[in-house]
Amino acid sequence: MRFHYKNTISVLLYLLFCLFTTYASASSFIRQITDDLNTNLQHEEGAVQIQNLAEVHYLHEHNEIASRDYKVSASNMVKGLRDRRPSTYSLKMESFNTLLKSTNTERYESRPFLAHGYNWTLVVYPNGNKNDKGSGYLSLYVAIDNSSFVAAHQEVYADLRFYIFNKKERKYFTIQDTDVWKFNVFKTMWGFSQVLSVDTFKDPTNGYLYDGDHCEFGVDVTIPSLFENFELFSVTEEFTNPRFTWTIRGFSTLLKDTYLSDVFSIGRSWNIRVDPSGHATGEGKALSMYLILNANEKIKSYEEIYVRAKLRVLNQRKLNDVEKSVENWFNGPGLGPGNGWGYNEFISLADLRDSSKGFLVNDMLIVQVAIEAVSSTKYFP
Ligand SMILES: *[C@@H]1O[C@H](CO)[C@@H](O)[C@H](O)[C@H]1NC(C)=O
Ligand SMILES: *[C@@H]1O[C@H](CO)[C@@H](O)[C@H](O)[C@H]1NC(C)=O
Repeated sequence: MRFHYKNTISVLLYLLFCLFTTYASASSFIRQITDDLNTNLQHEEGAVQIQNLAEVHYLHEHNEIASRDYKVSASNMVKGLRDRRPSTYSLKMESFNTLLKSTNTERYESRPFLAHGYNWTLVVYPNGNKNDKGSGYLSLYVAIDNSSFVAAHQEVYADLRFYIFNKKERKYFTIQDTDVWKFNVFKTMWGFSQVLSVDTFKDPTNGYLYDGDHCEFGVDVTIPSLFENFELFSVTEEFTNPRFTWTIRGFSTLLKDTYLSDVFSIGRSWNIRVDPSGHATGEGKALSMYLILNANEKIKSYEEIYVRAKLRVLNQRKLNDVEKSVENWFNGPGLGPGNGWGYNEFISLADLRDSSKGFLVNDMLIVQVAIEAVSSTKYFP
């Protein structure tokens, strides 16, 4: 059972790795940036797989995680290179080999630095945190000053991004988790026990240890607040009566440029606008027809309403109707620009006046709109 499980995980990881390398070779730009990562991955590939298996195994057998500083699952881990230096704290070291070789020094802890109202320290384990499966790796953590906690049940949720400067690339290698980290009086230190293998880190050709044994670590500590403002966009596509039909009698006697139908409500309130002698490019040669958001509709300055509809001139001799589609965003009520959508040349006046075509019968014109979709957006607060 477990054997099968491990195999599945290995295959999955292998596929992921293939995907990653295919992607990396797809663009030389990406390849440049990830070359260094690939080097690391090559070094660590075996180790990463074993690490994952060990972790699955571990979680499988012990529901409670024994190690105080253990948390990260590899699937949530994001690594990359970036130009910009750390925003919260930087720790430069000029004699790192001394620490690497010291058998008595397990870790280096920075002075406290203030971020988001709490004191923190950056903690480096040059040879890895053995209590956190970090042996053979460089481990990086952030510890919160526990006197910052005013109440025993207080929790602090922080996003952490750790950095190691790479002199060769002139970029910062970064590692972070997609999830936030929960600090409380029982869990005051969080981070990554396996940031880079010590071998990768020490090899001067990789660029992490430079100018002899100089190096730089960094961290961003962010306490993200949760959103309070939001919006909900939805589209209605079912209406009890999706059609509105407007019968215009005495068409030849219409003298005004523009006529509006009665207001009708389908999702929102609308009018049909008809210009009997044509508007703009249709002037003098075609009937213009538009769908208009009724002037009394209230709409926020930033709001837009998605609308899909069919505009029609109905054929009264049971021949084909003239039908044209509207699919647009309405951003205001009434007759302002962008507030109505339709066609300057909906049907030519010649076709309209040709009595054999069936659009104008007894000087009566019948137009229709069928609303198919109307969006609405709710804003909170
Ligand atoms: C805070 O940390 C110090 C040093 O690590 C420890 O001695 C102390 O017991 C901790 N206090 C609480 C409330 O956990
Ligand atoms: C941070 O540490 C400094 C120096 O130890 C201390 O004066 C300050 O009160 C601390 N701030 C918080 C928020 O714990």
